[in-house]
Amino acid sequence: MTSWIDACAKSDIEAEESFRFDHSGRVLLIYRSPDDEYFATDGICTHEHIFLQDGLVMGYEVECPKHASTFDYRTGEALKAPACVDLRTYPVKIEGERVLIGL
Ligand code: FES
Repeated sequence: MTSWIDACAKSDIEAEESFRFDHSGRVLLIYRSPDDEYFATDGICTHEHIFLQDGLVMGYEVECPKHASTFDYRTGEALKAPACVDLRTYPVKIEGERVLIGL
């Protein structure tokens, strides 16, 4: 069963930016897309143990700051080598001004 965790305010994230959210030992990233939707993935690259919050967010992609693999943050799909394993994604819902993540 999904439990919804209050992660941040909508205004904590600019469009085409990400926000790191740590919860119960997990590191997640929450994204705000150019068309104002919110998404969440694991916040650690699947290639090596590198935090993605320092990576560039462009359109619907996040780029790993170490070897420049890119992932589609809507689906988690690894788009560019060397990472070849997709990022795990999490459901997001908006309640008023708050962003909730389903874990
Ligand atoms: S650590 Fe992310 S692409 Fe290598």
